[in-house]
Amino acid sequence: MEQITLICPDDWHCHFRDGDYLTRTVQDSARCFQRAVVMPNLKPPVFTVAEAMSYRQRILQHLPAGSDFTPLMTLYLSEKTAEADLREAASNPHIIGCKLYPAGVTTNSTQGVTKVAAIYPLLEIMEEAGLPLLVHGENNDAQTDVFDREARFIEEELVEILKRFPKLRVVLEHISTQKAVEFVQAAPSQLAATITAHHLLLNRNDLLDEGIRPHYYCKPILKRQKDQEALIQAAISGNPKFFLGTDSAPHSIQNKESACGCAGVYTAHAAIEFYASVFEQHKALDTLENFASVYGAHFYGLAVNTRKITLQKEEWKVPGTLDFGKETLAPFMAGESLYWKLNRDT
Ligand code: NCD
Ligand code: ZN
Repeated sequence: MEQITLICPDDWHCHFRDGDYLTRTVQDSARCFQRAVVMPNLKPPVFTVAEAMSYRQRILQHLPAGSDFTPLMTLYLSEKTAEADLREAASNPHIIGCKLYPAGVTTNSTQGVTKVAAIYPLLEIMEEAGLPLLVHGENNDAQTDVFDREARFIEEELVEILKRFPKLRVVLEHISTQKAVEFVQAAPSQLAATITAHHLLLNRNDLLDEGIRPHYYCKPILKRQKDQEALIQAAISGNPKFFLGTDSAPHSIQNKESACGCAGVYTAHAAIEFYASVFEQHKALDTLENFASVYGAHFYGLAVNTRKITLQKEEWKVPGTLDFGKETLAPFMAGESLYWKLNRDT
């Protein structure tokens, strides 16, 4: 196949950061996505509807002229989140849901939720108001092995959330294990999951064998090859519970190549191309459109995009570095060849 045409995809999980960084992140996402769910883990976090609306304005200012890209905003849940804010969020068309970060599990999550049970009253309001819950599904117990945190969160928290709030729509973000795949498959239709390109393309050997690769370090940490294979099977399966979410999460080279490096992989510069290469490798290009452009919109109850994009079979090299505000970042697959390329005229 020399060319594929898809309904314009959406990114259901993405980090834009703020300030100067928006020049890079917003334009890269708008390149191939029509919508992106924007994560609220800024410093300080996006707690309120007012904060989300001003962040949205800052994002819109960075869009190229004539772009139809739409950021979908999220609120950062905390034990202190006001009930009134949740009700306001539910009726605001620019806000798509609320994000649960167990405190301390990942970048800028220290002000997240210490005890999930403490926010049950908030989840009840979200369930009633039809506001989806987006979950960073790892527990924050320092005693739990970092490779087991997703499984523990599912057992200790997610099972109970789904049982208590059967009408609450929940997205388990960036799943990384076979256990998560099986759990989502078996769960009621209130639960869906996003899958990143890097969790489809890598496993922990890529991260740790033959030298430590800080640019592959992310949360949830990459798991075993069998987990990677389960994620690939889920993504290409045509099961509408699994859809695209890049978790593109930029950090400067300095902050990644450090004695205590930040977690996050930047994939927005070539996101749809990364997914296309995985789907092609597994002879599943025919299921890419639903995964990338249809199932997420259906789950969130939004219209599917009408515009199309075309990808061409063409070898090109990912740049070694990209400007990132006044700093630089190392994009995923820096300096390596990719074999699909977005046709910019579509
Ligand atoms: C994300 C970030 O840098 O904001 N990092 C990551 O490794 N994925 C946060 C997150 O989604 O966990
Ligand atoms: Zn993320």
